[in-house]
Amino acid sequence: MKVTVVGAGAVGASCAEYIAMKDFAAEVVVLDIKEGFAEGKAMDLMQTASLNGFDTKIVGSTNDYSKTANSDVAVITSGIPRKPGMTREELISTNAGIVKTVAENLIKESPNVIIIVVSNPMDTMTYLAHKATGLPKNRIIGMGGALDSARFKYRLAEATEAPISDIDGMVIGGHSDTGMIPLTRLATRNSIPVSSLISAEQMEEVKQETKVGGATLTKLLGTSAWYAPGAAVASMVHAIATDSHKMFPSSCMLDGEYGLSDICIGVPAIIGANGVEKIVEIELSEDEKAELQASADAVHKTNALL
Ligand code: LAC
Repeated sequence: MKVTVVGAGAVGASCAEYIAMKDFAAEVVVLDIKEGFAEGKAMDLMQTASLNGFDTKIVGSTNDYSKTANSDVAVITSGIPRKPGMTREELISTNAGIVKTVAENLIKESPNVIIIVVSNPMDTMTYLAHKATGLPKNRIIGMGGALDSARFKYRLAEATEAPISDIDGMVIGGHSDTGMIPLTRLATRNSIPVSSLISAEQMEEVKQETKVGGATLTKLLGTSAWYAPGAAVASMVHAIATDSHKMFPSSCMLDGEYGLSDICIGVPAIIGANGVEKIVEIELSEDEKAELQASADAVHKTNALL
């Protein structure tokens, strides 16, 4: 498998690193507009190969899309990250033009590519990539829910004092501080509902901390996070490469599912060789339905700014 990662910043470099560490891809091409930057990141990463035990070839390029030709998967991380105090939505004016150009360039070289969008505001950038390329809807996936669910599981594990591998949980909805919906009702530890293990107040705290998980890190780091976003992308690329049919909540183009249309927003999706193999419609409570509708209304509003 050949993977392209556009943007050699912290998130892009982490994606490339984690993909290489899983050692399933023949080649990862990292592209950046800053002269020599992607080449430098690729060389540094390649010098970890003998130490970390991978054979994936990592190639850097300064914006030469011919290097990306015939990629099976491309990850778009380009654009600016948010600074402390900013919302993801505030990035739209800078990032929309960048994401549109990148998506168009990618499909010229790789007509069969599956695109994973990471750039923020992610749900709107995923929607834009669909509109700009006209690719079948299974072939453009927004990465948000995989990351937000990992953050949810981290908080659930803390609250229950359990190892994370005992925990299961999922976040759907928009990838924004207000739009995320951690499905607290369905979170489990070893099949036991977490709601029976911690108080309602503790669960509410877990929910709120999950929703601002990215903002908390932005405040601490001075820029947005990269390890967990990179790892979330690498897990999704691995699911595509191995046709694993693992379920990741992902930003998918909806056509009536969950009563929503002409929108990309986080819903449970089966990820395999064709990208989105299936959108899974789970029974939501009335409260969860209302939260999803409010989240979708907010995403529609941001989409209208395109
Ligand atoms: C975050 C960015 C990647 O949530 O959206 O950290």
